[in-house]
Amino acid sequence: MDKLQLISEINRLKVEKNAIIMAHYYQDDDIQDIADFIGDSLALAQQAAKTDADILVICGVNFMGETAKILSPDKKVLILDKEAGCSLADSCPVDAFEAFIKKHPGHKVISYVNTSAAVKALTDVVVTSTNAVSIVQSFSKNKKIIFGPDRNLGNYINSLTGRNMVLWDGACHVHEQFSLEKLIELKKQLPLAKIIAHPECKKTILMLADFIGSTASLLKYVQRSDYEEFLVATESGILHQMKKSCPEKIFVPVPPDDSTCECNECSFMRLNTLEKLYHCLKNETPTIEIEEELRLKAEKPIHKMLKLSKELGL
Ligand code: 13P
Ligand code: SF4
Repeated sequence: MDKLQLISEINRLKVEKNAIIMAHYYQDDDIQDIADFIGDSLALAQQAAKTDADILVICGVNFMGETAKILSPDKKVLILDKEAGCSLADSCPVDAFEAFIKKHPGHKVISYVNTSAAVKALTDVVVTSTNAVSIVQSFSKNKKIIFGPDRNLGNYINSLTGRNMVLWDGACHVHEQFSLEKLIELKKQLPLAKIIAHPECKKTILMLADFIGSTASLLKYVQRSDYEEFLVATESGILHQMKKSCPEKIFVPVPPDDSTCECNECSFMRLNTLEKLYHCLKNETPTIEIEEELRLKAEKPIHKMLKLSKELGL
C-alpha cells in the first residue's frame, strides 16, 4: 500500500471502529498529521481519562499506553509496537526502586510519568514535566520527598523550589546526549536565537537555556514569543508542530554529542510508523493489558496528579 492508501485506510478504520488516534509530539510527522489528538504526556493522560471512543490508539511509547489503560480500563488500548519502551523508565527497575524507598522511610514518593505501572504502584503522586514543579511546590517545604527516576528533572525542580528531594539516578538517553559544544557553536552562528530546552536535559544545557519546559510548554513558548529563531534541545519531533504553527520562524534542533549523527530522535518513539498504525487498527493488536490489582494501585497516584493539575489550572 502506498502512503495515500494507508492514510485513507487508517481514516476509514478509525471511523468504523470508533477509535481515537492519540500521538505524542515525538512521533513522525505523518503520525502527528493523522492523529485526532496530539499532546504532551499530561495532555495524553487527560484525554485518555475523558474520551468516549471505544478504542484508544496510543502513538507513543509503552508507558503512555499503560497510563491510558490504567485510566480507561474498559476500553481497548492499542500501541503500535510492543518494543517501544523508554530508556528513562527502564533506568528504574521496580525491585531496586522499592529497596530505595525502604532505605528512605517517611518520604513521600513522587514519580515522573515515564515509569512502569509497577513503579507507579509504589508512588504517592505521579507528575509530568508540565506539572512537576507546581505539584512538588504543593507539598510543604519540610516534607521529605523521593523523586524518580529522572535525576536531571529532579535537580532542576530542586533548584527552582529550594527543596532537597532525594533523587533516583536515572536519565533519558536522548536528553542526556545533547552536545554543549555544538549548542555553543550554533548560538555563535545564530546569536539572536533563543535556546529552549526540556528539563530532562543535563544541567550544562539547562544553564544556557532561555526557556525550560515540557514539550507542550516549549510549543506554547515559541508560538507566543516575539523572537524569530530558536535552538531546540529536545527530541526533534516537536519541530513539526512548531514549524506548522509558526512557518515564518526558524527552528534548529540541537544535535547530540555523537559526531556521526545530527539527529536527536528517540529510537523508541520512532519505531512507530504509518504502516504499523494501519495494522494495529486493522488487527486490534498489540493491546495493553494490566492485571487489575496492579492497575488499581497505579491508578491512585495518576488520579491524584490529574486532580492536582485541575486545581492548578493545568
Ligand atoms: P513531555 O511531552 O511530557 O514533555 O515528555 C517528554 C518525554 O520525554 C516523553 O517521553
Ligand atoms: Fe523515554 Fe527519552 Fe524516548 Fe521520552 S525521549 S520516550 S524519556 S527515551
